[in-house]
Amino acid sequence: MSETEAPPSRTPGGAVTIRPALPRDARAIRDLVIPYAQARILLAKEMIGYYEAIQEFVVAEVDDGAGGRRVVGCGALHVMWSDLGEVRTLAVDGGFRSRGIGHLLLMELLARARALGLSRVFCLTFEVEFFTRHGFEAIEGAPVEPEVFAELVRSHDDGVAEFLDLAHVKQNTLGNTRMLLTLA
Ligand SMILES: CC(C)(COP(=O)(O)OP(=O)(O)OC[C@H]1O[C@@H](n2cnc3c(N)ncnc32)[C@H](O)[C@@H]1OP(=O)(O)O)[C@@H](O)C(=O)NCCC(=O)NCCS
Repeated sequence: MSETEAPPSRTPGGAVTIRPALPRDARAIRDLVIPYAQARILLAKEMIGYYEAIQEFVVAEVDDGAGGRRVVGCGALHVMWSDLGEVRTLAVDGGFRSRGIGHLLLMELLARARALGLSRVFCLTFEVEFFTRHGFEAIEGAPVEPEVFAELVRSHDDGVAEFLDLAHVKQNTLGNTRMLLTLA
């Protein structure tokens, strides 16, 4: 862009598109997460972690005002057990919040959960009102049988450890609310 051209508009020009994330979106996802990780709202991953998890992600994109598209939101569904998943890394660019983009992303992740035959979706969040509006309820503890707990504890995934409320990730979860949605 030359110095005389107008900068790209930050206003979504058309409809928001929600689509499965592609490997080429990994850096945009990382860039969405960084400010929230710095504010200790989300956990950042190493770059390799976004590539490895890319198939769990959906992204929201809008016109970038320069003839292209720009990723302004993301979210992931992580499967934990036969009936149980977690919505994680749901993030919308600060300049695009409160326009329904988070709602669209969450709807897509819940549709994925249903398509996978899951009946319960966990979330660990500060955004209690947003998730309550979508049917999530605050819970205590990890709602799994002891046998399943014993299997989940073998995971190397920090999110699973947070779900189990294990001591070594307590510093990640301070102030968050544990929430669960039962899918109809
Ligand atoms: C949670 C989050 C993803 C929501 O994204 P968002 O795009 O702002 O979500 P929405 O616009 O769908 O809804 C946000 C609010 O805007 C309101 N809203 C939605 N569309 C609107 C519109 N067109 N005009 C005005 N308000 C609107 C909703 O009522 C909603 O209110 P609520 O939070 O009290 O439910 C976003 O706040 C975020 O990135 N938070 C930081 C990361 C995080 O905590 N993630 C969750 C844990 S994984």
